[in-house]
Amino acid sequence: MQKIIYILSLYYFTVVNSYYRNNPLIVGNWKSYLRYNEAIELSKNLKNIYDNNKNDLIDKNIVIMPPFLYAYEIGKLLQDTKICIGSQHVSPFCSGPFTGEITASMLKSTNCEYCLVGHYERKQFLYESDEQIHHSAYKLLKNNIIPILCIGDSSVEFENNKSYDKCISDINNLFSYLMSYNVDYNIYKNIIIAYEPIWSIGTGIIPNKNFLDKMYYDIHSYISYKYNFNPTILYGGSVNQNNLMEMSTFDGLLIGMSSINENKFIDICKKFKKFNLIN
Ligand code: PGA
Repeated sequence: MQKIIYILSLYYFTVVNSYYRNNPLIVGNWKSYLRYNEAIELSKNLKNIYDNNKNDLIDKNIVIMPPFLYAYEIGKLLQDTKICIGSQHVSPFCSGPFTGEITASMLKSTNCEYCLVGHYERKQFLYESDEQIHHSAYKLLKNNIIPILCIGDSSVEFENNKSYDKCISDINNLFSYLMSYNVDYNIYKNIIIAYEPIWSIGTGIIPNKNFLDKMYYDIHSYISYKYNFNPTILYGGSVNQNNLMEMSTFDGLLIGMSSINENKFIDICKKFKKFNLIN
């Protein structure tokens, strides 16, 4: 029975749903790699390459996430392109006496449109808790910034077939928090999901296509059924120009290392979904 449901959902997603899907979303997370001069140079190069490849990129939504400190200036540099600015982090607090914090309303006032929440590196190295992640997502939604919720399994969870359960629990935790604050359906349906296996981030290792397809369909079906919207789901973890076919079912990508090289990044943007039914 489970097999029949799986085959039907496969048909639905590849044939029926392909006509309704949005343009792919490609997000470059610059992390803490670049100094000011390097970031400005990368942005200028991105602008030039983008201008020369507009026709190949017209159907892609592209977001870059530079460090806070340079984001506004880079946004101005790229304002004539379709590349928009996102943030790697937001404070869980509102405006107030919180030394060093960058709030959602501050981000909004500098034209930030997207923001990561729940990235593994912040949980692991900065001890970000679920509670902080939920507060951050809530503040973003209140300020009309689209949260990109990062979810993902550890290698132990992967080996024990718990990848799906772990991701669904991350999703349910956030949505039940938002519902407890009566966040309206029309607002929370804007949340984007990024599936990033923890063991794939920065390692050069990615899951195989069968596994990734199944994760995509299962997470998508769960959210559509339980929360009644058609979510955009990105894949993240060691994406490069040569492994895009493996994650071609996804609606987009979250790219770290390969996004700080303008040629690699634009090449990935151009290639992603080229052979898919949608384009
Ligand atoms: P990576 O990072 O592409 O360097 O693996 C992805 C991420 O952390 O979002």
